[in-house]
Amino acid sequence: MDQQLTGRTAVVTGGNKGLGLAMAEALLAEGCQVVCASRTPGRTGGLRERFGERVLHHETDVTSPESVAAVLRAAEDAFGGVDIVVSNAAVRHDGFVKKLSVEHWRETVDTCLTATFLLTNAAIPHLTRRGGGRIINVSSGMARRPTPGAAAYSAAKAGVEMFTKTSAIELARYGITVNCLSPGLFDLGMGLDLQQVPGLWEKHLAKIPLGRAGTGEDIGRALVYLCTAASSYVNGHVLEVDGGYLG
Ligand SMILES: NC(=O)c1ccc[n+]([C@@H]2O[C@H](COP(=O)([O-])OP(=O)(O)OC[C@H]3O[C@@H](n4cnc5c(N)ncnc54)[C@H](OP(=O)(O)O)[C@@H]3O)[C@@H](O)[C@H]2O)c1
Repeated sequence: MDQQLTGRTAVVTGGNKGLGLAMAEALLAEGCQVVCASRTPGRTGGLRERFGERVLHHETDVTSPESVAAVLRAAEDAFGGVDIVVSNAAVRHDGFVKKLSVEHWRETVDTCLTATFLLTNAAIPHLTRRGGGRIINVSSGMARRPTPGAAAYSAAKAGVEMFTKTSAIELARYGITVNCLSPGLFDLGMGLDLQQVPGLWEKHLAKIPLGRAGTGEDIGRALVYLCTAASSYVNGHVLEVDGGYLG
């Protein structure tokens, strides 16, 4: 098959582990250059070994405006410009509202939501210089599913979805589309944490009409759709990648 994104450059936050690694791999397979941005120095999840100089890791804290600006500059310096940004990095701290610490609330909201704003805000001049581009944010089915103990994460992810829709309207004039992937239950990354609680994984699986958890290939294909010409008229959309998760 032809590679659809040859010569394009993407920055993927958290692109070295879990869903981010699967998405970075999918972009690389389509011919992209990819900068994986995360805190762990040098971590590309084996992508550097497989895809060589088309992959870089940039030590980045997505909650810091300076650090986010620096990774975009690094991508431009290395590859000549930025065409795609994927706001994927996240942390999740659960806790009932009555007991949730303000530190855990802040870290969750800063990493999931404020970081998404910081990346979009800093990416606009880079994408505009290329005549447009694609911004893809990552939310969660938890954005629409109230769950005891998940207030910080769910509220932050709901914010990501509305931020996506608002920035899509504002940035269309620059040729930039902004869309969102909303994963359901995945057999990688933080989805695997559910397997630590007896019965919880099975409880979620029972709600998935397709009868299985999502895979790295599932999220990678959905991301590629939002980055290629197939989705050129899709803007401000939240794409649920969840096998039809019920309720
Ligand atoms: N897995 C699922 O089933 C599932 C379901 C719904 C939604 N999601 C969403 O999918 C996305 C990926 O989740 P995942 O399961 O792959 O999570 P994960 O395996 O825990 O990976 C999280 C990534 O975020 C990076 N990160 C965390 N804090 C950061 C910071 N301050 N600065 C830079 N990077 C940071 C981590 O890298 P470092 O530690 O190196 O910084 C890591 O690469 C998230 O947005 C998550 O909410 C996942």
